Amino acid sequence: MTIPKSFPARGAASAPSAVGSYPAVRMRRNRRADWSRRLVSEHTLSADDLIWPLFVIEGERRHEPVASMPGVERLSVDLIVEAAREAEGLGIPAIALFPNTDPKLRTDDAREAVNPDNLVCRATRAVKKAGVDVGIVLDVALDPYTSHGHDGLLVDGEIRNDETVAVLVRQSLVQVEAGADILAPSDMMDGRIGAIRRALEDAGHTGTQIMSYAAKYASAFYGPFRDAVGSGGLLKGDKRTYQMDPANSDEALREVALDLAEGADMLIVNPGLPYLDIVRRVSETFRVPTFAYQVSGEYAMLMAAADKGWLDADNAILESLLAFKRAGASGVFTYFAPHAAKLLR
Ligand code: PBG
Repeated sequence: MTIPKSFPARGAASAPSAVGSYPAVRMRRNRRADWSRRLVSEHTLSADDLIWPLFVIEGERRHEPVASMPGVERLSVDLIVEAAREAEGLGIPAIALFPNTDPKLRTDDAREAVNPDNLVCRATRAVKKAGVDVGIVLDVALDPYTSHGHDGLLVDGEIRNDETVAVLVRQSLVQVEAGADILAPSDMMDGRIGAIRRALEDAGHTGTQIMSYAAKYASAFYGPFRDAVGSGGLLKGDKRTYQMDPANSDEALREVALDLAEGADMLIVNPGLPYLDIVRRVSETFRVPTFAYQVSGEYAMLMAAADKGWLDADNAILESLLAFKRAGASGVFTYFAPHAAKLLR
């Protein structure tokens, strides 16, 4: 064994990851006691890391279970306000709202997306009016509003990019005027971040944050979400002409670089756990706030196994969330947010 005369600085490229050998070195010494494990732990998870996605429905005092997401309910606007208060009380910094739009309002041109009185806009206004101190993240995409369940406008069997971006810009302005703090474009159209940023600046909304779903994959793990927002049964075909190929990793860096250049403040990698390598590469390469989305299918898998008694739910939840932090994420969208925040207290 060779002992270097002086140890390289922490984090330096040449730093030996381990110096020495057994028995002088026994890795288990630091793990012997709880206090010691806490002392040497490299990453921590707290309520501050969580964003809670919520599904909105029409009505009053209405809550309706999502079959494929046990424990998750769609909530009417008044109950969304209560959920927001719960988030505030638990120290969860932000909620993300997704509408389950009345099927009658879903059209080819997605016009309900630009209605200032649509469900997410009303929910956003209600939370703001109640004075609840949580950030509100609103998705920018057309899938809750189209008759075919796609995130963009479908013309002759093709998702039209630039026509869609024009609608997304109008949707963004309507959402910001309703009180959205963070816009999260999840549609994967080219050029939408730049177009939205220009429109925000022109309208004087210079402080609105854009959290871009920069690396969003065409994933099988979104199934339960589509049940929750009611787009699943409508979806014709798949989203592979706009969402990314799960085979690609370098391409994610290019998507991120473009979105940052166009004015994104923060990024999302979506899905989460199966794409931890992307979280790592993105956070390490760009050093900007990078969020992971533990998507509906990941939630469903954990809950199904826990339901069968095959997993200890609480430990599996906290371990999966900590994994995002270890991979370099600033925070995580998770349907477990309130439960995890309680566990972490
Ligand atoms: C809508 C959207 C989706 C998700 C976030 N925003 C689904 C999709 O693109 O089909 C995934 C969230 C989840 O599965 O929990 N564009």
